[in-house]
Amino acid sequence: TQTQPFRVLICDEMNPGNLEHDGYDIEYVANMPREEILRRLPEFDALITRSRTKVDRELIDAAGERLKVVGRGGVGVDNIDLDYASLRGLLILNAPESNNVSAAELAVMHLMAAARGLVRSDSRTRAGVWDRKYLGQELKDRTLGIVGLGRIGSIVASRAQGLRMNVVAYDPYVPETKFERLDVRRAETLDELLAQVDAITVHTPLTDETRGMIGAEELAKLRPGAIAVNAARGGIIDEQALVDALTSGHLFAAGVDVFVDEPPTPDHIFLTAPNLGITAHLGANTFEAQERVGAEIVERVLAALKGDVSKGA
Ligand code: MLT
Repeated sequence: TQTQPFRVLICDEMNPGNLEHDGYDIEYVANMPREEILRRLPEFDALITRSRTKVDRELIDAAGERLKVVGRGGVGVDNIDLDYASLRGLLILNAPESNNVSAAELAVMHLMAAARGLVRSDSRTRAGVWDRKYLGQELKDRTLGIVGLGRIGSIVASRAQGLRMNVVAYDPYVPETKFERLDVRRAETLDELLAQVDAITVHTPLTDETRGMIGAEELAKLRPGAIAVNAARGGIIDEQALVDALTSGHLFAAGVDVFVDEPPTPDHIFLTAPNLGITAHLGANTFEAQERVGAEIVERVLAALKGDVSKGA
């Protein structure tokens, strides 16, 4: 039985809320250097991260026996080596609900920015060119293709419907009833979706199945002048293929919030690609989402340490 307080380390920047909880000693250090995490981890029962900290084999090995729970302040757990963590008996928790609206709104922002040439007009205006010849695209009555109709994809669908877009989605893991409830057309295959949309947005986790899922071949199947958005994970839309499709003019414009390697190096191909709107993995970065994410992940991790796994996994 535990007599000492459980010790919890929060090592990435987040809004962890109240750190005073009876029976727990919670230490919050925004962006703790990796060497320090590796050195100090054996002192803790639980670790809470965002995507910055890679919970890989090295880190799990450095933890020693005491660490029991790893909490991810966010949805995606692709920064965690899940196989190795489960081999070591670690419980992995995330905050699956709290930032969905913010992530969905950011994807819609990229869609609208791409449709109206925000990046292009912004940079031309700043360069002294008052270009009013530019024509964007109206989204009403166009078709948005959503790959992944999970929590975030579903919210994107409803927002796009609010813009009076037609929405079609591809998600082999979601039952028919959900498509019906959301009034979203179902594409049986990715190809079927690609053939009928004016814009595509991806909302899947990054897995072996989804990495590079939208590559050169898939982008070529979109109609010329289409828009692509990736506010999910870097590489679901292949980075080089996206740049090529923008450079050739096959795509009208695109928006990305995520990179394969974050932060990107100064010579990253996205940084000079035409008609590409970029944000710095900000999908979850709203005041509202960060307040909820911090509270949700801390609550789940503390409950799990006390053995209430119903609040966890
Ligand atoms: C997520 O997976 O929810 C996001 O990547 C969260 C974050 O920005 O930390």
